[in-house]
Amino acid sequence: MIFLLKYIRYMILTAAVLLAAVLYQVTISQFIDLNTTYIELGQTYALIAVALIYISLLITPMYFVFPALPFKPVFTKARRALGVSAFLFASLHVYLEFFKNFGGFSNLKYLTGIYLYAFLFGAIALLILTVMAVTSFNYAVKKMGKYWKIIHRFIYLAGFLIVFHSFILGSDFSSISNIESWIYIISLLFLFVLEFLRLDSWVVKKYPSVKPKLIVTVLTLLVVFGIITWYTFKK
Ligand code: HEM
Repeated sequence: MIFLLKYIRYMILTAAVLLAAVLYQVTISQFIDLNTTYIELGQTYALIAVALIYISLLITPMYFVFPALPFKPVFTKARRALGVSAFLFASLHVYLEFFKNFGGFSNLKYLTGIYLYAFLFGAIALLILTVMAVTSFNYAVKKMGKYWKIIHRFIYLAGFLIVFHSFILGSDFSSISNIESWIYIISLLFLFVLEFLRLDSWVVKKYPSVKPKLIVTVLTLLVVFGIITWYTFKK
């Protein structure tokens, strides 16, 4: 445990760099066509970035709802490294998707409607991840004091933007019949329910007249309704 506590951040960051390099090598040796390589790799990097953001967002509500789970200090300490690794994979994804597949800034004029928003959401999310990665060092934490926490709460906004971005653009989530869509939806619902439980207990403590589990039930139903509506009206 002490070893893990001391080295978990270095372990995660090293593993992230190695994984990015290995995936590049494996994908490039699988496809002869460079365009297909970039598409495959762009998607894989995006999915890994999302998974890392997901895990870092899951840690706090998970231990709130299940306090008996082991390794809490290790996971809590790992969060910053998970965020920096997510930034690495998200940057690689943006480089491949924006500059290689899309064609860079000169093609922005062809973007319209919902796709323009999806790109904008992705760009804002990347900006948030960049600020978080740059300020992830102990020196920044000390220097920024209470502002550090405020800035790092923007990860929730980034999370929302990425969900919309990937639902609009991601070919893996284009149809409800894809297994990837189901994994994504169930994982999201799980995280939302844990967060709603946290909110529920806070509201009930502050306003004892509110019925316990009312907030979690209403908000979960709203999210399920939102997802069903999205897939119903999506072309
Ligand atoms: C300017 C910034 C960004 C641009 C231009 C961009 C572009 C794209 C494009 C073109 C796709 C469709 C890929 C496909 O399915 O073939 C996509 C999907 C996706 N993007 Fe981004 N992206 C940006 C930022 C981000 C960020 C910061 C994240 C965070 C992790 C992210 C996560 C995803 C995910 C999860 C998908 C779905 C991948 C899949 O279907 O397997 N994107 N993005």
